[in-house]
Amino acid sequence: MTTIEPRPAVAAPLRFPAGFRWGTATAAYQIEGAARADGRTPSIWDTFSRTPGKVLNGDTGDTAADHYHRMREDVALLKELGVGDYRFSVAWPRVQPTGRGPANQRGLDFYRRLVDELLDAGIRPVVTLYHWDLPQELETGSDGDSAVGGGWPHRDTAERFADYTGYVAAALGDRVATWTTLNEPWCAAFLGYAAGVHAPGRTEPAAALRAAHHLNLAHGRATQALRAVLPASAEISLTLNLHALRPASRSEADREAVRRLDAVGNRIFLDPVFHGRLPADLVRDTAALTDWSFVLDGDLETIATAVDSLGINYYAPTVVAAGTRTAPPPSPSPWPGAAAHAEFRPPAGPRTAMGWPVDADGLYELLTRLRGELPHVPLLVTENGAAYHDYADPEGHVHDPERIAYLHGHLGAVARAIADGAAVRGYFLWSLLDNFEWAYGYSKRFGIVHVDFASQRRTLKDSARWYAGVVARNGLA
Ligand code: FCB
Repeated sequence: MTTIEPRPAVAAPLRFPAGFRWGTATAAYQIEGAARADGRTPSIWDTFSRTPGKVLNGDTGDTAADHYHRMREDVALLKELGVGDYRFSVAWPRVQPTGRGPANQRGLDFYRRLVDELLDAGIRPVVTLYHWDLPQELETGSDGDSAVGGGWPHRDTAERFADYTGYVAAALGDRVATWTTLNEPWCAAFLGYAAGVHAPGRTEPAAALRAAHHLNLAHGRATQALRAVLPASAEISLTLNLHALRPASRSEADREAVRRLDAVGNRIFLDPVFHGRLPADLVRDTAALTDWSFVLDGDLETIATAVDSLGINYYAPTVVAAGTRTAPPPSPSPWPGAAAHAEFRPPAGPRTAMGWPVDADGLYELLTRLRGELPHVPLLVTENGAAYHDYADPEGHVHDPERIAYLHGHLGAVARAIADGAAVRGYFLWSLLDNFEWAYGYSKRFGIVHVDFASQRRTLKDSARWYAGVVARNGLA
């Protein structure tokens, strides 16, 4: 009797729309190093990483991937990958060391050289103005309102951000077409000022809500500053780490927990930026913490200054059940107004080295949600990727099949969302290089290029070669 071998399902090759933008992403503090070079002063991350116990192994960004001195080599890597776009961030404390006052020409010059190098290589620069490195002076400086302290809870920080944006726009505006004001304001506000696990490490939930509003305001004021000097063709954007929230069950209580997290995790940014309003349920949920009187007349109009696209960073979904806790949570929570009402349920299945579940459907869910809620807003996936325990083998190769599988699955989710009508225009892989992964220091490797931090030697991982193939054929094999 002959048996018929089951044949593996052969999926048709997946193609992306013509003109789809392929890129990689990085952030200044995570790769640049050169913490004291050319007039740069400390940011809140320099201070936080030097505070014992805040960052794993006491790691700091002092040297990081030394990109400041190896920029040409890194742009050559991008060229080798064949990407058409590169998303990087500008370090505010390089450009305006005290956070106020005149610009530091030497700081701006570094970014001019980087932009020139990219353009020479045929790569479009995508500039993020704020990826968490607030000049320390603005956190602790003398003009902070003593009731709320300095930093983002202090309204003035939004104005200072608009000034700084003006300097960067004047220096690079003729050569940079795509601008992102803020990266993940949720993390800046709630990990930084409520949970205290990111810089500046404060655990003040009411201040975190103020910080979120002032980050929104900074985005609006920066958008206005950019519009004032950039050509009409410039694309202005904002990047959010929207949370893909799923109720653990269909119960009313679990869905109510999701609603609360959605208010303080997602709609706290989406509603002001795209609709010029605060979510009414958020105001209700947080009434015990604040009356929101720091939202002044005109703020919401400023925040709703039109943008041209929205950036989405996605790593993993969040499964939520109604809270059953009777005692307060064991550590400060990044979810003011929601923490006591929700519990997180880690989904089953594979995980990355961060412990984050591998679940590409969450990305599809987010992109199709936005298709429904913001049908006219073009979307960019500005970060997506995974950390694994990579190492160079004796032949110097770095095999990272799990990362390739992760990326394959997530690009499939993007393709599905596009096929179902989501206006996704590009994808930026996080990250080009292994780097300083915030509170995890150098222990987590997200790069598609391996960095040996002792020698600063770069090695393309298998995933880098795989991604170059995706870019070249504008699709998955
Ligand atoms: C995002 C950050 C980015 C990187 C990835 C893993 O939240 O924007 O800097 O750390 O996570």
